[in-house]
Amino acid sequence: MRSGSASSEFSRGLIDRSGYASEKFAEGYDRHRLSPPPAVLKILTLVAQAERPRLVVDLGAGTGLSTRVWAGYAEQIVGIEANARMLKWARRVTQEPNIRYVQAFASNTGLCAGSADLVTCAQAFHWMEPAAVLREAGRILRSGGVFAAYDYDVPPAIHPEIDPAFAVHFAARRRARERLGLQAGSATWPKEQHLERIRESGLFCSAREIVCHGFQEVDAVRVTGLAESLGGPRTIFGEAAPEVEETFVHLREAAERVLANRSWPMVVSYRIRLGVK
Ligand SMILES: C[S@@+](CC[C@H](N)C(=O)[O-])C[C@H]1O[C@@H](n2cnc3c(N)ncnc32)[C@H](O)[C@@H]1O
Repeated sequence: MRSGSASSEFSRGLIDRSGYASEKFAEGYDRHRLSPPPAVLKILTLVAQAERPRLVVDLGAGTGLSTRVWAGYAEQIVGIEANARMLKWARRVTQEPNIRYVQAFASNTGLCAGSADLVTCAQAFHWMEPAAVLREAGRILRSGGVFAAYDYDVPPAIHPEIDPAFAVHFAARRRARERLGLQAGSATWPKEQHLERIRESGLFCSAREIVCHGFQEVDAVRVTGLAESLGGPRTIFGEAAPEVEETFVHLREAAERVLANRSWPMVVSYRIRLGVK
């Protein structure tokens, strides 16, 4: 593991209490969470004016969902991940020879200055101390290269009978986190402020938000698996927040009732906050 600095303490604390390092979490995460749709890749390569980027660096790569997706679109891809358990799974399920992973904090990648066309941060920028990570992104990007922090909206649009149950469960998790002092990174670094952080860094000649969407076929198992992976396993709440379990059961029942044995296209909205160096 590349040594962290004081700026990594925030991420380290978050990872320690996230439940993401627990046994089996990475496997379920990788099965149920989402890979970015082609529209995200198209937008980023267009803005970076790199039809086939030479190097894409994915910060907070997790199990590699946002890293592997670049295999056919870029020459080389490097995933940077601090959590050893997530990284182990990423390495296990990544076959593509043009992808490698580094166990490191995003503020200290060890990569060469000016080498990257794109630095991405998928569902991960709110886990990081933004100033230090933007400095590192600015260092490793070539001139005209793009830093992009992108996130999908939760809950996704699945079905009018499932979406409210998903929203209630997600809200119950958030309230329980607040009450138990298990706050997610977004409580400190809200996603809505990513663009402001990029602008105020002064490292990018232009910054803006672009939105797009993708589709993903889901069945009831995938819907509940996705909900389970958002914000860590339910076990981190223990018996201190029974409403998390109750709302989860309600969501599962709604998904099973509506989707039964079929799959259904879910619509996922993405917000890409980007800066051009
Ligand atoms: C929600 S996951 C996103 C994973 C992946 N990008 C995806 O789209 O599924 C956030 C990941 O960022 C990692 N992470 C958080 N802070 C980090 C940091 N400062 N440096 C590197 N990785 C970090 C966490 O360990 C976690 O695996």
